[in-house]
Amino acid sequence: MFPSLPTFFTITAALTATVQSLPQDGSYSVTPSSTASASTSATTACNNSPDLCSRSYSDITHMGAHDSSFLRDASTSNSIAGNQYFNATVALDAGIRLLQAQVHDLNGAIELCHTSCNLLDAGTLQAWLGPIKSWMDTHPNEVVTLLIVNSDGKSAADFGSVFSASGIDQYGYTPSGNTWPTLQEMITANKRLVTFIASITEDSQYPYLLSEFDHVFETPFEVTSLSGFNCSLDRPSTQNSAGAAIQAGMLPLMNHFAYNLLGASIMVPNADNITITNSPSTSTTGNLGLHAQTCNEQWGIKPVFVLVDFFNEGPAIETADNLNGITPVGRSNAGLTATVATAAANPKRLGLGLGTEALVAFLAAALLLI
Ligand SMILES: *[C@@H]1O[C@H](CO)[C@@H](O)[C@H](O)[C@H]1NC(C)=O
Ligand SMILES: *[C@@H]1O[C@H](CO)[C@@H](O)[C@H](O)[C@H]1NC(C)=O
Ligand SMILES: *[C@@H]1O[C@H](CO)[C@@H](O)[C@H](O)[C@H]1NC(C)=O
Repeated sequence: MFPSLPTFFTITAALTATVQSLPQDGSYSVTPSSTASASTSATTACNNSPDLCSRSYSDITHMGAHDSSFLRDASTSNSIAGNQYFNATVALDAGIRLLQAQVHDLNGAIELCHTSCNLLDAGTLQAWLGPIKSWMDTHPNEVVTLLIVNSDGKSAADFGSVFSASGIDQYGYTPSGNTWPTLQEMITANKRLVTFIASITEDSQYPYLLSEFDHVFETPFEVTSLSGFNCSLDRPSTQNSAGAAIQAGMLPLMNHFAYNLLGASIMVPNADNITITNSPSTSTTGNLGLHAQTCNEQWGIKPVFVLVDFFNEGPAIETADNLNGITPVGRSNAGLTATVATAAANPKRLGLGLGTEALVAFLAAALLLI
């Protein structure tokens, strides 16, 4: 239920100064960094910098890949329903720490499908979780967040059995109250996976499967114009405003992806404007940096979560680095190289293959590719 866009490093010293001068926490009620030995993490990065180890999970901007399992690459014939050029493993290597996905019921299984399994079927949830679990095994100092849109109302027990089968449940973090620990505390406890599901009835048998809208509020996600991004609360309806949600201890999620309208009601991820959309700059309407700065000012706290399409463009992670006030450590862009060259060489023609035909077949159903 969220969309976005891709680029390169263009930030200026002036911009860095501007962004870093913004308030870093404001009136947010977060747990003060406690016990965990910050000294032992002085040289090892927790989520992109040693400086973040002693920071509360809720006092960090986690950059996220929207619809992270729906790829616009050779595996989908460059489907225009795809929101990302690179898969979850490459995203994690590149510093992305929030992976969003949408699931549907397919013959009883939980399947990663974009709006409909006939349109874009990215396989089972379990198959997707496997490589994420493996990545976490080999990256023991990293805290990862999942956000799963539960389109067909599967139960916590359904999700729980898939999480157990993948083995990733061992990392599942269960919060207590409205305060969040530091990254180092989560790492030390080896409870490094935060899982939000929209929507789900929580089940004490699977306490790490969290109902998203008990903990998180979101800005609008159906934006079709670069001037359409704002910082208003869109969901949940149980809160009246972003300010009220923040007062209630909810974590802000800033949706920052744009759609092209195809016909009257078909929305496809807008890759054409991606260099604008994902730019860390604060100078132009539609820039990720500007949207984040605006929300930071309006809310008095920075976005804790951000979702973008085509995360490698911008690169989007640079905006999170600016908000977090860090110089990144330990990231790898190795997996990005080849496809970025392809995408950059032909940015406007991606997705005019099979994806379009599949999409047209669904026009009558007036689907939203969110
Ligand atoms: C993710 O993409 C990389 C780079 O294209 C590839 O090497 C890797 O096998 C992919 N991983 C999965 C789980 O598909
Ligand atoms: C933010 O965008 C949403 C969706 O377009 C709109 O309904 C809302 O009024 C906007 N908020 C402001 C303050 O303009
Ligand atoms: C965004 O992309 C659309 C569709 O390609 C294009 O018509 C429009 O001019 C672009 N907007 C900007 C601000 O570049």
